[in-house]
Amino acid sequence: MTAGERPIGDLARAIDESDFAWSLVLVGEDQSSKLASLTSDLRGRPSPTGEGKQITSGYQYWGIGPTIAWAHACSDPFYQVMKQSLESFTRRWKRISGKVEGVPLHYVCLGAGTGHKDRQILETLLGDNPDLFYFPVDISSEMLRLGTGNSTAGLGMPGHRIVPVQLDFAIHENLVEFGKLLRRVVGDEPILYSLVGNTMANFDDDAEMLASLTAMMRPQDLFLLEVATTDDLSDDLARQVVEEYARSRAYKEFVTSALMHNSDLTIDMESVQFRGSVEPGRALKVKVIYQNRTGGDIQMMLPDRTRVLFPDNDTILLQVTRKYSRKALDGIFTKCGLRRVASTHSDFRAQRQSPGFGMELVLLRRAESEAVPTQQRRTRADEIWANPS
Ligand SMILES: C[S@@+](CC[C@H](N)C(=O)[O-])C[C@H]1O[C@@H](n2cnc3c(N)ncnc32)[C@H](O)[C@@H]1O
Repeated sequence: MTAGERPIGDLARAIDESDFAWSLVLVGEDQSSKLASLTSDLRGRPSPTGEGKQITSGYQYWGIGPTIAWAHACSDPFYQVMKQSLESFTRRWKRISGKVEGVPLHYVCLGAGTGHKDRQILETLLGDNPDLFYFPVDISSEMLRLGTGNSTAGLGMPGHRIVPVQLDFAIHENLVEFGKLLRRVVGDEPILYSLVGNTMANFDDDAEMLASLTAMMRPQDLFLLEVATTDDLSDDLARQVVEEYARSRAYKEFVTSALMHNSDLTIDMESVQFRGSVEPGRALKVKVIYQNRTGGDIQMMLPDRTRVLFPDNDTILLQVTRKYSRKALDGIFTKCGLRRVASTHSDFRAQRQSPGFGMELVLLRRAESEAVPTQQRRTRADEIWANPS
């Protein structure tokens, strides 16, 4: 094979051997269309309850400003969900990692974040598969650089085995193309996917999102999911979740960051509002909104230099989050055609402010129904894993 036929390996080696801080990212999407979507989502109709203008899920992290704000929020002792999730991850992963040992897996991380959890997962997986491919996938290239730097430093992985992918995984067509890429690279070898850090809870249609992501799995694959949980559902508990988020200034700075960087609004932390509610039988839900409380209308300039009216009392939905009822989780998994392989629950009850709140780390596999004839078992996975043309 000539040098020209193996440019990626050569390029990765050149980068590995350089002292300069290069990083490779595979960009899957035209970033100008992301900016157009973000701009258009900020033109929604007036609503006092977060039903009109919005920062769509994922865009909170898009760009260097939001990435830095996220890293900062993750180290804020008052941002309880992430603090508990990060601090207890090593212990929780150890409890279930035995189920992936002995199997040579590749690793696809959906939503890289700061990369601290990926590092621990990679340390386990490299034991059985030193040649594994690691695909951190994120909407934000800056997050990929930050996360991949943290997750791989000192692990000795060859550069061409680390493939950061900038992609919005909420778009089904992106998953189809990503599936084709994975098939080209790893063939039939098994993959561990992860969606951790309660990322699922941020999607409006969360169960649909989980179904779409897990449809990528083949019978040999595994999926690691981490969600925030609650033992009970009540309006009082929803209020306590609101307090948990409202306590962290760093979280408020993160959640308003995309708005600050993509409009000319002067961000006022008092205008960040939290609305808690119960999703009957399944979750405590919090909508984080930015409300115009100035007593007058504001003309807001968007990235395309157009102005949009942000009337008094109108809102911009910044983020949705949830804590899932532990009893509801199996119903969600069954609907997605998944079964538990292993799971571990951490209870944060010891803290006065967290009554029955915790974290669930679950390893899932596809629950294939033997009773259904093969030709009727065609799922989205067939489309995603179709032979590349
Ligand atoms: C809540 S953070 C979790 C980070 C990390 N997994 C952890 O547990 O620390 C969510 C991550 O997913 C990424 N993300 C959110 N929505 C996304 C989307 N639609 N497509 C790709 N990445 C997304 C964000 O950029 C961010 O890195």
